[in-house]
Amino acid sequence: MNAPRNLLIDNIGELVTNEPRMGKGPLGIVQRAAILVEDGAVAWVGRSAYAQPADRRLDVEGAAVLPGFVDSHAHLVFAGDRAAEFAARMAGERYNGGGIRTTVAATRAASDDDLRDTVGRLRREALRQGTTTIEIKSGYGLSVADEERSLRIGREFTDETTFLGAHVVPSEYAGRVDDYVGLICGPMLHAAAPYARWIDVFCERGAFDADHSRAILTVGQAAGLGVRVHANQLGPGPGVRLAVELGAASADHCTHLSASDVDALAGSSTVATLLPGAEFSTRSPYPDGRRLLDARVAVALATDCNPGSSYTSSMPFCIALAVREMGMTPAEAVWSATAGGAKALRRTDIGVLRPGARADLTVLDAPSHLHLAYRPGVPLIRHVMHNGVLLE
Ligand code: NIG
Ligand code: FE
Repeated sequence: MNAPRNLLIDNIGELVTNEPRMGKGPLGIVQRAAILVEDGAVAWVGRSAYAQPADRRLDVEGAAVLPGFVDSHAHLVFAGDRAAEFAARMAGERYNGGGIRTTVAATRAASDDDLRDTVGRLRREALRQGTTTIEIKSGYGLSVADEERSLRIGREFTDETTFLGAHVVPSEYAGRVDDYVGLICGPMLHAAAPYARWIDVFCERGAFDADHSRAILTVGQAAGLGVRVHANQLGPGPGVRLAVELGAASADHCTHLSASDVDALAGSSTVATLLPGAEFSTRSPYPDGRRLLDARVAVALATDCNPGSSYTSSMPFCIALAVREMGMTPAEAVWSATAGGAKALRRTDIGVLRPGARADLTVLDAPSHLHLAYRPGVPLIRHVMHNGVLLE
């Protein structure tokens, strides 16, 4: 028997395409829909009544189908955990990023295989929850060799890898930030660049100021890397404006924004990536998604998965928080977790279900995308398809 060439996913109650020309509203919703998958890509999308027969057929019995989630911000290469730090915060301690150095020490001491096992475990955990694309940052190595191996291991799992040598100044460089910035801009960038698509900086009081951040991001750009910035997470600051100035793909966190930060984002091609898992886990005020959307800023949602400020790999959890705590509608949150994430990674082949797009999708155990926020904490992902392959 010949191998099946194509698969028709049929009897879809609600198909979210994120292509307004193909259906209703900004999510481009098609009801009573079908989708034909061939060679890892979407070949056809439309009403079930018009679908042509295929080699195989999957009847989803009225379920909702969505593009796979695009998690555009995650720190998966690390060792150890910081559960005790979380418990202390829940008892009243403040988060200031100081625990990053604890994870740096554990990561440096870990073997390649230990790091690989952790990334693999978290990648599988995310996939089971519908994440078909994930960005992975370095940033817990902070030496030339440890940043290089973090990216090399991250690259085994995704093409969307980000060099974050400028996460904090490591203890051995305490009081010598200029020297550490010199190391990042020279040997560390040289070792990291072959394994990275992006460069990122934690631009924040206690981490890197605007001048150091600009210097690092500019040399990264010159080496061919795209720019992303950890900006305005713990307080107001220059991060968002720097991201816009450099044409960054994304300014991430955006928790403390001035009116001029919002204006700068609104007039730019920089996406505001909101990471509500971090505010949840640090018991901090959530970013104001409504304010950004009303100003017509493109918004993405991502997990920020890391052992310190946000140890979740769940995009559905982030959607629920965005709806309940950040003034976003369920439709806006779903767009931000799919098409928004794709935009933050400057990708047009994912986050959308139209002919030619990658066949990355989820089938929900629910009739509508609304249920992702309406039924928080419930495992609603029935099937995940990645590159046209249905995962078991
Ligand atoms: O995005 N803000 C900087 N980096 C991470 C936190 C890392 C950590 O606490 O280990 C973040 O929240
Ligand atoms: Fe982060």
